[in-house]
Amino acid sequence: MSTVVVLGSQWGDEGKGKITDFLAAKANVVVRYQGGTNAGHTLAVGQEIFKLHQIPSGILYPGKVCVIGNGVVLDPAALLTEISALKRRNIDLAGLRISDRAHLVMPYHKKLDELEEMRRGTGKIGTTLRGIGPAYMDKVSRNGVRIADLLDERELQDKLTGLVEEKNLLLTRIYDAEPFAAGRIFEEFRRYAEEIRPHVTDTSLLLNGAIDRGEKILLEGAQGTMLDLDHGTYPYVTSSSPAVGGACTGTGIAPSRINKVVGVVKAYTTRVGDGPFPSELKDRIGDRIREVGREYGTTTGRPRRIGWLDANVLRYACRINALNFLALTLLDVLGGLETVKICTAYRYHGQEITHIPASLRTLEQCEPVFEELPGWQEDLSEIDSLADFPSAARRYIQRVAELTGTPVAIVSVGPNRHQTKVLHELF
Ligand code: IMP
Repeated sequence: MSTVVVLGSQWGDEGKGKITDFLAAKANVVVRYQGGTNAGHTLAVGQEIFKLHQIPSGILYPGKVCVIGNGVVLDPAALLTEISALKRRNIDLAGLRISDRAHLVMPYHKKLDELEEMRRGTGKIGTTLRGIGPAYMDKVSRNGVRIADLLDERELQDKLTGLVEEKNLLLTRIYDAEPFAAGRIFEEFRRYAEEIRPHVTDTSLLLNGAIDRGEKILLEGAQGTMLDLDHGTYPYVTSSSPAVGGACTGTGIAPSRINKVVGVVKAYTTRVGDGPFPSELKDRIGDRIREVGREYGTTTGRPRRIGWLDANVLRYACRINALNFLALTLLDVLGGLETVKICTAYRYHGQEITHIPASLRTLEQCEPVFEELPGWQEDLSEIDSLADFPSAARRYIQRVAELTGTPVAIVSVGPNRHQTKVLHELF
């Protein structure tokens, strides 16, 4: 039995899609456990680029079972667009399975995401405006619509009548916005139901059965630990649990059935949206990393904020997720710099701290303490073996492992599958 979780150790965009795609070659089943269309994974296969939002990264291999777990909030229109784009490129979707317990992102969730952000003004979170927060709010307040409801016309119609009435009060009386027509949403969603129905199943049953048979399961997190609703830099977080706990609640796989947890770590740090970022670079080095690393959002196209690697963040991710291994990505992007820095601690009112404070005001006042390491000039993306990497690059990898007390299992130096060096086999 082998169940491996791959999750983000920073603020998302660590290259999880590439690592999942690489590991998926050996897995039988690949599972998304939280988030929705806010996620965006860019995958390079040979000369082809694929951008996935809701479908697990394993879909590019024929014969894999790819599961959208119950923890995901699913936007059915966006899913069908993604499915037809993949079909046009001859990708087989026969293995796609969708949990009957997953919640739906409804049109009013997207509208409310936009209106709530506008109301927050300068205190905005910088959400992806995909309706994620409002959809999870409805899930928690027990006003959500699940896939099981979508497949039951009467249930869907009854639910929508009550829910849309309530949302319309909010939209018209608080936000002075246009109301939605329940009948139109019903007609639209009933069409989606027929297209989605063949893929829907009890995915916890499917997954636990696969584990019983000794199959290899790969669980794929979206976003990252610092965007986790509980453990991230609240309120500048997403509304789900990208950390390892979310892998259990979002799939129906119990903690005792998870064997390894791998944290994907970008060789530097990025963040989209607002919120504190102690190791942020607001200079030419940051601009250069943004351009070389093509650090623009897959989902929204927004330029990402850039910073040096932050060991406080990584230690925190190691603790919260009990990471067994790290997968270090985008190391090639740091090439050509005279020196590279790692933030090893924060200084707060003259004291060094090596954890992440809960108070945002405290975190905003933290100054990064940097360690400077020699850079390298070689293009790592073209070097076949890790043994042939320049010593400064090898030293950087070793330092990341030392500072986190966690071994590096994979080093990625480019978007393609062959640009991946394996130090420890994970399956
Ligand atoms: P939401 O998930 O759209 O509600 O956005 C909440 C916060 O999470 C914002 O700062 C977003 O920029 C951030 N976020 C959401 N999804 C991603 C992602 O896939 N990568 C990086 N940041 C994300």
